[in-house]
Amino acid sequence: MEIIKYSNYTIPIPNRYKNKTLEDYNWEENKNLKNIIINFVIQDNYPEKGIWLYGMVGVGKTFLLSVIYRILRYIYGSDVEYIEFQNLLASLRVLIKDAEKFEEVINFYSSIPYLIVDDIFDEYCTESDLKNFSRIVNGRYNNNYNLICSSNVDKKGLLETKSSMHLISRLVGMCEFIQVNGKDNRI
Ligand SMILES: Nc1ncnc2c1ncn2[C@@H]1O[C@H](COP(=O)(O)OP(=O)(O)OP(=O)(O)O)[C@@H](O)[C@H]1O
Ligand SMILES: [Mg+2]
Repeated sequence: MEIIKYSNYTIPIPNRYKNKTLEDYNWEENKNLKNIIINFVIQDNYPEKGIWLYGMVGVGKTFLLSVIYRILRYIYGSDVEYIEFQNLLASLRVLIKDAEKFEEVINFYSSIPYLIVDDIFDEYCTESDLKNFSRIVNGRYNNNYNLICSSNVDKKGLLETKSSMHLISRLVGMCEFIQVNGKDNRI
């Protein structure tokens, strides 16, 4: 597709997806998804809702987030960031002793317009992890920014997690939940 261009700035996305495009993805099991993604990335205005891609392991969620990152990065440059949920939590855990740096990082992730987070809630989180993540989600909510993410957890699963209702309510409000179908492509 002519109008879609891809950034070569690929540092935060997994190396294995650094050259992937929408054309490399096999859409057989997800025929509507391609248009949903194209319409999302080419819209002129900041999208009211982000995207919450959910599905089983190995169906291509990280692949798709990486491609979305490459397109958005081409269009919006440094207004786009990609991070794995566990890495985000780990960096906040380390920084918690340095209040100034910690606030800087919270502020960074709260005020970047396009934030892509891979594997939300896929691993165990402590209460303090959830509190830290809530700060970011709340900050984004207050700034009218959404979130683009992937998870093995769907909307129902999210509502059943033990996270605070404040966090869940904001996440549900911020994202369109979209299923990625298919089998585990790794096996
Ligand atoms: N529809 C697809 N077309 C082409 N390759 C695919 C597709 N789906 C998955 N793959 C390939 O399958 C492997 C797993 O994909 P990926 O890492 O994106 O899965 P995932 O949904 O993020 O899994 P997890 O939940 O474990 O993180 C990769 O090698 C990827 O290239
Ligand atoms: Mg993944």
